[in-house]
Amino acid sequence: MLATYIAIGVSRLTDAQNTLCQWGHSVGQTQHLFRRQAMPMIWDYAESSVFSDAAGDLLTTLSTMARVIENLGIGTPGHASQNDAQTQTISGRKVISTDPPYYDNIPYADLADFFYVWLRRILRHITPDLFATLSTPKAEELVALAYRHAGAKDSAEDFFLTGMTRAIEQLSRQMHPAFPVTIYYAFKQSESDDGNDTTNTGWDTFLAAVSAAGLSVGGTWPMRTERGARSAGIGTNALASSIVLVCRKRSPTAETISRRQFIRELNAALPQALDAMTRKSEGEHSPVAPVDLSQAIIGPGMAVFSKYAAVLEADGSPMTVRTALQLINRFLAEDDFDADTQFCLHWFEQHGWESGKFGEADTLARAKGTSVDGVKNSGVLQSAGGNVRLLKWADYKPDWDPAADDRLPVWEGLHQLVRVFKTDGESAAGRVLAAVAAKAESIRQLAYRLYTLCERAGRAEDARAYNELITSWAPIESAAAAMPSTAPAQKTLFE
Ligand SMILES: C[S@@+](CC[C@H](N)C(=O)[O-])C[C@H]1O[C@@H](n2cnc3c(N)ncnc32)[C@H](O)[C@@H]1O
Repeated sequence: MLATYIAIGVSRLTDAQNTLCQWGHSVGQTQHLFRRQAMPMIWDYAESSVFSDAAGDLLTTLSTMARVIENLGIGTPGHASQNDAQTQTISGRKVISTDPPYYDNIPYADLADFFYVWLRRILRHITPDLFATLSTPKAEELVALAYRHAGAKDSAEDFFLTGMTRAIEQLSRQMHPAFPVTIYYAFKQSESDDGNDTTNTGWDTFLAAVSAAGLSVGGTWPMRTERGARSAGIGTNALASSIVLVCRKRSPTAETISRRQFIRELNAALPQALDAMTRKSEGEHSPVAPVDLSQAIIGPGMAVFSKYAAVLEADGSPMTVRTALQLINRFLAEDDFDADTQFCLHWFEQHGWESGKFGEADTLARAKGTSVDGVKNSGVLQSAGGNVRLLKWADYKPDWDPAADDRLPVWEGLHQLVRVFKTDGESAAGRVLAAVAAKAESIRQLAYRLYTLCERAGRAEDARAYNELITSWAPIESAAAAMPSTAPAQKTLFE
């Protein structure tokens, strides 16, 4: 026991006593090597005495560890054993929470060798099983490092995906049926600096492994797991550092659905999910920060995707997780909407139907790649005397002819549809929908967006109008399908 503690002390000291320790000018002391999970090259090093009563000294170095042990308290004894996650049988009917390796983020085994060689010298007679090999085992390590595969990135990714799928299958076989498995996934800040990149390789490869292993993802909760000094941006716009995936076993009788059905289900599920995540006073949890939304929305989106055995593309091939993530994330972005609609959406978020200054509208329009005049020409905006306001659907032109409208943003399509539906009912709305068929899905998506937005902002009357349209969508769609085709009839050769 004593030898083990001494070995841990020496191991700790190796971090502070090596030729990669720099002198910290600002703090006036030697700095330990592993301030991050890498061994950087340095030009010179600082060497401190191990009995100097300063940083790098044995007792000083150990005191922080001792403090942790003193404060741990004595609870149920823990048990640690070393197993390969791909073949382990230790998690039978247990509640599982795991922190797996993250793609190519950290080469743990390589870094561990730094400590291992010293620990092995001291401890191999005491725990021979743990120190049987000359260096740490690498072959089973689930990490996507190209240099372990003769430089081939594809092979590294393949190795990670296959191994991780096996490891998660092993969990899924053994998990306690009554509890979900929680899996921590650390998120590389560099992968997400723009706040939107949720489809980086590490992340979607990992989700693909989870799904392939027979688990369905029910939640993705962003968590701030790094300590204060690391996450300098807490309270600012910094992203959460980890995502917790909450997973359950997929039903063995899960069906397959089409891409169209998948998008339809996303449209139905995501607005409520988004609402629940961003609402302030709901339950005990605090709302998800706006910067974390694109991560958090993956949970309910993947819940739809992963509850099915497969989502089939039009050509019959199964949809990839990457595509699913793009579709899910598109819900937050506005890529689907034309520039005029993006302008209207943002203006509406700020001003609703009230008027605002032309200058502000002009700036917003430029940012969205359109112009105030252009949006005005489309018939959804009033701009006069330095003031700008969005027209309410009731003010839209009743003699509107979609076929003759050469500037028809999704925003206009939706509000014309609301107007016609309100005044003339389902079959008249069906006629409009048939005329703007190419934009139908975007119109519906916008209706969902606006419904959520209005409900959250307490605009009950507007929310009701969008909600009515959404709930009557199926009959309106049927009415549209029953319309005679508006496409020009095929002419004969000599006509
Ligand atoms: C994100 S780290 C866990 C860190 C841990 N939660 C902590 O706070 O120290 C992932 C760990 O998985 C380990 N690992 C990699 N491949 C493995 C495998 N095939 N079986 C078991 N563990 C593995 C790595 O060595 C690494 O220690």
